[in-house]
Amino acid sequence: MRIILVGYGTVGKGVTSILARRCTEKVKDYGFNPKIVAIADIDGAVVNPRGLSPEKLEALKQTRPISSDPEFGHPGMSALDVIESVEAEVVVEVTPVNIKNAEPALSHITKAFKTGKHVVTTNKGPLALAMPALTELAEFNNVFLRFSGTVGGGTPMLEFAKRCLAGDHIRSIQGILNGTTNYILTEMAQNHVTFQEALSNAQKLGYAEREPSMDIDGFDTACKVVILANWIMNKKITLKDVDRTGIREVSLQELGEASKKNNTLKLVGSIDGDTAAVKPIEVPVTNPLCVSGVLNAVTFFTEYAGEQTLIGAGAGGIETASAVLRDLLDIRHKLATKLLS
Ligand code: HSE
Repeated sequence: MRIILVGYGTVGKGVTSILARRCTEKVKDYGFNPKIVAIADIDGAVVNPRGLSPEKLEALKQTRPISSDPEFGHPGMSALDVIESVEAEVVVEVTPVNIKNAEPALSHITKAFKTGKHVVTTNKGPLALAMPALTELAEFNNVFLRFSGTVGGGTPMLEFAKRCLAGDHIRSIQGILNGTTNYILTEMAQNHVTFQEALSNAQKLGYAEREPSMDIDGFDTACKVVILANWIMNKKITLKDVDRTGIREVSLQELGEASKKNNTLKLVGSIDGDTAAVKPIEVPVTNPLCVSGVLNAVTFFTEYAGEQTLIGAGAGGIETASAVLRDLLDIRHKLATKLLS
């Protein structure tokens, strides 16, 4: 399987690390032979139609910009040019999130579809703004679109609901889907630090998005709610359909009051009937959803299997890259069995 990697930040580097390591190990057991034939970054690309070797992938981590690589570098070559001109089966799109117009990821994904390439993305922007249209476009072009890493990082929340709960009826979903806000609320509740202090710690620790409003105003959670609603509950919604409140107004006093009742405040994303929402709500500390720190958790309320809660790390380069590998294997499996879904 020939892969074009678009975006070379934390997740992109995680993808090259995993594929470099795994291509010499177990991945071959699945009859899956991944080759990264190009990496496109903001200022150029590296291209080797025969596949970049694990040694080259390792060396590229120290090369800035990657397009200065003397063997395979193409300074100034854009991601769109790479997607158009390099032969590959899959584009892995891991550029930074933009929820204003979803660019450049949206153009990368549509170009990939139009050139007959499957897409694996961890980018929430295009899905939050145009998921119904994108899934239709993928179907129209007879290619797969996979996005496991957009919700829950490496924790397989989308697959759990789609595969493990197949046949059941998911009535509603509630989730703590943003690690940064959960870290902030946990610090405020347990260590009584102020909102500002907790936010600045989250930024220092690298949890928060580049633009912290994405996290604290609930946009990131809302993007994930859109993805869950469309993929798991067959809705056709976008970001504007989510009723959203962030955590700016949550005070130490409110958390103290909640704690007297053995509750705490959590930023919860939910889908129930036609309502998709993000807001801070009081949750009993005994609720399985009530995880601490940067953990994420999601509960699926089902007709037959009851309440099912999945907990795990919701972010991180290597964790999210593991979701990319999972998606690549899924595409490989679908192609092998020729079952287009
Ligand atoms: N900023 C996000 C979070 C990253 O804190 O959960 C993962 O989407």
